[in-house]
Amino acid sequence: MGLTKERAVGVDQAETITIREMVSEDLPQVTALERQIFPDPWSADAFRSELSGKSYSFPFVAVDEAGTIVAYMVSWIVVDEAHLGNIAVIPSHRRRGIARLLMDRLVSEANAHNARLVTLEVRVSNRNAIRLYEQYGFYPFMIRKRYYENGENALVMVKPLNESGKIKPLSHWESENS
Ligand SMILES: CC(C)(COP(=O)(O)OP(=O)(O)OC[C@H]1O[C@@H](n2cnc3c(N)ncnc32)[C@H](O)[C@@H]1OP(=O)(O)O)[C@@H](O)C(=O)NCCC(=O)NCCS
Repeated sequence: MGLTKERAVGVDQAETITIREMVSEDLPQVTALERQIFPDPWSADAFRSELSGKSYSFPFVAVDEAGTIVAYMVSWIVVDEAHLGNIAVIPSHRRRGIARLLMDRLVSEANAHNARLVTLEVRVSNRNAIRLYEQYGFYPFMIRKRYYENGENALVMVKPLNESGKIKPLSHWESENS
């Protein structure tokens, strides 16, 4: 398993953050963080099932120099679509570029698997996350009504990858289809 080392630079401090694949030993820490961060947390079983060797599942953690998990992400790549299922950074480590590092890893996996776009759902009220995704090149695509347990709508966002994901005239697709 290869480790991707990236440097995440904060406003007043710099620390090396490592992105690595999530393993079963991470589950107690990840599920505890998930419960602290989200009102409708994923269960331990939900995370466990992502570690059961599914070829389409790509769960990662970000760890600090002491090996403590400071962020995590679950993503899927199915055929030519990558999907961001879950992402969170612990409050003390926000605004240091760690979510951006995790998404860099997702995009690099997506490109390696020839995905053509990345999709995600985000609560319409989650302005911080929407800002992050916009900054990262996602655009708002549609509203998915009452997607969340409390009845809140989801904003579906899409990021095309490479030239193949960009909007092209119908004539392009007709020639590709022939
Ligand atoms: C959303 C979240 C993952 C962002 O993580 P992060 O590591 O702080 O994000 P980054 O530092 O990589 O931010 C990258 C860019 O996103 C935008 N952004 C991120 N957090 C922001 C905030 N609180 N307010 C405004 N913009 C924000 C900024 O443009 C930022 O760049 P900048 O710091 O240079 O201005 C984090 O706030 C979090 O875990 N929130 C709770 C869980 C959650 O909502 N997950 C998303 C579910 S869809």
